[in-house]
Amino acid sequence: MTEVVALKKAHPEHIHAVNDEYIDWLMEAVVRNRFLPCPDPDSVFVGDGNFQAVGAEFLGHFIRRGGLLPEHRVLDIGSGIGRMAVPLTQYLDPAKGTYRGIDPVAGGINWCQQKITSVYPNFEFRYMDIAHSLYNPKGAIDGLFLKLPFEDRSFDFVIMTSVVTHLPDEEVSVYLREVARVLAPGGRLFMTAFEVDTVAAENPQKKRDTRLGFQRYDNGPCWFVPELPPLAAVGFDDGFLEQALIKAGLSVSTKSHGHWRGVSADHYQDIFIAGAGGGR
Ligand SMILES: C[S@@+](CC[C@H](N)C(=O)[O-])C[C@H]1O[C@@H](n2cnc3c(N)ncnc32)[C@H](O)[C@@H]1O
Repeated sequence: MTEVVALKKAHPEHIHAVNDEYIDWLMEAVVRNRFLPCPDPDSVFVGDGNFQAVGAEFLGHFIRRGGLLPEHRVLDIGSGIGRMAVPLTQYLDPAKGTYRGIDPVAGGINWCQQKITSVYPNFEFRYMDIAHSLYNPKGAIDGLFLKLPFEDRSFDFVIMTSVVTHLPDEEVSVYLREVARVLAPGGRLFMTAFEVDTVAAENPQKKRDTRLGFQRYDNGPCWFVPELPPLAAVGFDDGFLEQALIKAGLSVSTKSHGHWRGVSADHYQDIFIAGAGGGR
């Protein structure tokens, strides 16, 4: 069963503001449209799964669960090689909606600039030389001192899909504080993660993704997979992310556990949605 914990009603006026049938049609159209930019499979460094299908699935989650609207100003932290951006080109209003992506992998940013910005000028991508032991080992910027190059309250919707799954806890806290700063009143963060709850840790029915045998590191809150480099997959203690969101000044509205832990759900990683303000 999908565990959806509605912690607080998040801006209900936005949820389902977009017609359900239209969302289904749009997701289908994204998957079928062979004219949309699609990177060579060998250059995709953002995870397995079908590039278009994963992007279309998330477009649906952003609209249905996150209340994303066509006129929103979107920031995608860790935009990779455009997996989330490509479907958004089919939804955001070219005149009113904007998208900004940042990432420490130059190849991904270059591809996005060439294939996406050239056709959709309201989509911009910026390389940031943030250090990461796997993605950008020689990076000059220490993520612990990150300052996003955007003004306070300048975004309605911030995306972090499959990003905190590669960051240590202290860095996650820094990023969440920055997200709280750049979100406009009423804005929302949509984040995915691995929360190691009892089911995920104990794997009672042996249905968990076999690649994710997380073991707690020291006294937590991080969990790593012993066979992998630590930042290849990071899980967090149950409750850590909610507390970090609240400490950052965000108010958590949704936590939905994903099927990586072996429960049934319509998404793989855990989803957290948090609104600007009010959570401290
Ligand atoms: C698994 S990929 C996910 C990419 C994208 N969000 C998606 O879902 O397609 C993780 C991304 O996080 C980026 N990344 C790694 N460290 C980062 C950091 N400190 N700040 C921002 N992005 C980072 C990587 O370069 C990579 O593009």
